[in-house]
Amino acid sequence: MSLRAAPPEDAAVLAGLHAAAFDAPWRAGEIAALMATPGVFALTIDGQGFILCRAIAGEAEILTLAVDPARRRAGVGRRLVEAAAGLAVRGGAESLFLEVADDNHAALALYASTGFERVGLRRAYYASGADAVVMRRALNS
Ligand SMILES: CC(C)(COP(=O)(O)OP(=O)(O)OC[C@H]1O[C@@H](n2cnc3c(N)ncnc32)[C@H](O)[C@@H]1OP(=O)(O)O)[C@@H](O)C(=O)NCCC(=O)NCCS
Repeated sequence: MSLRAAPPEDAAVLAGLHAAAFDAPWRAGEIAALMATPGVFALTIDGQGFILCRAIAGEAEILTLAVDPARRRAGVGRRLVEAAAGLAVRGGAESLFLEVADDNHAALALYASTGFERVGLRRAYYASGADAVVMRRALNS
C-alpha cells in the first residue's frame, strides 16, 4: 500500500473517506480550507484512509484520522500515524498531540499502541456528550 502526501485538490476524496468513518462528516470545503492553512499536511493511502495534521512551533497535532471500514485492522491507521509522526519530527516538532472520544475504543487502542499517553481530559467535549481524552506522544526520544 503506497502512502503519499495529499494536496488540497484531494479534499473531496478525503471527505468521502471521512464520511465513511465518522457520524459527523467534514465537508470537502472544510477539509480543503484546513489543508490550505499554514502548517497543515495530509497523508493518504489511496482508497483506504488519510490523516490530517498541523505542525507549528515545535508542536504537532492530529486533526483527524479516518480508515475505510472495509480496510480496518490491516495496519493502515498505524502506518498513517507513524508517517505523520515522522514528518512532524522532520519539521522540528517535539510533541504530537490529539483528542479522542473516551468511548472510541479502536482509536484509543491504536494510539496507545503507537506511543501516545493520556495527558488530559475535556469533559463533555463532543456533541455526543462524550469526554475527549487528550493524548501526547514525545517525538524527540
Ligand atoms: C481508529 C482507526 C483509525 C484505526 O484504523 P485501523 O487501520 O483499523 O488500525 P490498525 O489496523 O493500524 O490498528 C493498529 C492497532 O490499533 C489497535 N486497534 C485498532 N482497531 C482496533 C479495534 N477495533 N479494537 C481494538 N484494537 C484496535 C490494535 O492494537 C491494532 O493492532 P493489531 O491489529 O495488531 O492488534 C479506524 O478504526 C477508524 O477510522 N475509526 C473511525 C474514525 C476514528 O475514530 N478516527 C480516530 C479519531 S481520533
